[in-house]
Amino acid sequence: MAEIRAFVCGHPVAHSRSPLIHGHWLKELGIDGSYERIDIEPSDIRAFIAGLPVSGFAGGNVTIPHKEAAFETVSRRDGEAEAVGAVNTLWIENGKVCGGNTDAIGFAANLDDRAPGWRQRDRALVLGAGGAARAVVHAILSAGYMRVDITNRTPARAQELADLFGAKVRAHGNEAVDTLLPAADLVVNTTSLGMDGDVSLPADVAALPDHALVTDIVYVPLETPFLRAASARGLKTVDGLGMLLHQAVPGFERWFGKRPAVTQQLRDLVIADLDAH
Ligand code: ATR
Repeated sequence: MAEIRAFVCGHPVAHSRSPLIHGHWLKELGIDGSYERIDIEPSDIRAFIAGLPVSGFAGGNVTIPHKEAAFETVSRRDGEAEAVGAVNTLWIENGKVCGGNTDAIGFAANLDDRAPGWRQRDRALVLGAGGAARAVVHAILSAGYMRVDITNRTPARAQELADLFGAKVRAHGNEAVDTLLPAADLVVNTTSLGMDGDVSLPADVAALPDHALVTDIVYVPLETPFLRAASARGLKTVDGLGMLLHQAVPGFERWFGKRPAVTQQLRDLVIADLDAH
C-alpha cells in the first residue's frame, strides 16, 4: 500500500509542533506515512483546500491564520466545527473536503487525563474571549457545567462570545473578575497574559475556593506565572500542553487508521523541543 500523507498548513508554520507529534506516533505505531509542514499564504488557502481531493493527501491540520477560511471553504463540517466556528482538521470523503474541530475535544481530554472529576463541577470562569476561548466554552458546556462566566478586557468581545451560547454563559468586563473568583470551580486562562516571559497575571488566585481547578491554554512556558501562583496557593493546576497533544489524536486516527496515545514519552519529547527553541 502507498504511503499515507498528511500535513499541517499555516502561515507562519515553522513553529508548529504538529510534525513532531504525528511523526512520533507514525514511528511508534509502525505506519508507512508522513506528516509535513506546508506554509500557505492567506491568499492561497482556499485554492489549496479546494485542490486537496486530487493532491494525494489523506488530510491535514489547519492552524493560524487559516482556521476560519477553512471553515468557510470545506464542503462539509462536523458538529464540533459548527460549535467552534473554525476548522482545524481536514479529510476527504467521497471526493469532498470535510472539516472538523478538535480543540474542544483536546481541552476536555487533557482535563479528563490530568484532573479526573473536573466534569462533576458546576461553575467555570473563562478569562479572555479570543479565538481559543470559544472552543473552551463549548467544551465546558459539553461537560455539563451549569454556568460559565467570561471576562475580557474588551467586554464587547466577551458579549459576542456569550451570545453564541445562550443563558448559561454570561459576559463581563475584567472588573468583574474579583467578584466571580470565589464562586468558580474551574478557571481557564485563555488570554495571552503569562506567555513567553510575560509575568502579568490574568487574575488573583487568592480569591479562589480551595477546591478550584486552574488551567491555562498557554504552554510556553509550561508553568505560566498564573499556574505557578495557583500551585503556590495549594490549588490543583493543569498546564496547556496536554490540550495540544490531545487535539492531535482524532486527525491522526482518521488519516492513518490507528488511534494514538498521549504518553509521558510524547510529552517529554515536545517539552525537550520547546526547551530547545
Ligand atoms: P485571539 O485568540 O483572537 O488571537 P489574542 O489577541 O491572542 O486573540 O488575545 C487573546 C485574549 O487575550 C483576548 O481575550 C485579549 O483581550 P481583548 O479581547 O481585550 O484584546 C486578551 N489579552 C491580550 N492582551 C491582554 C492584556 N494586556 N490585558 C488583558 N487581556 C489581554
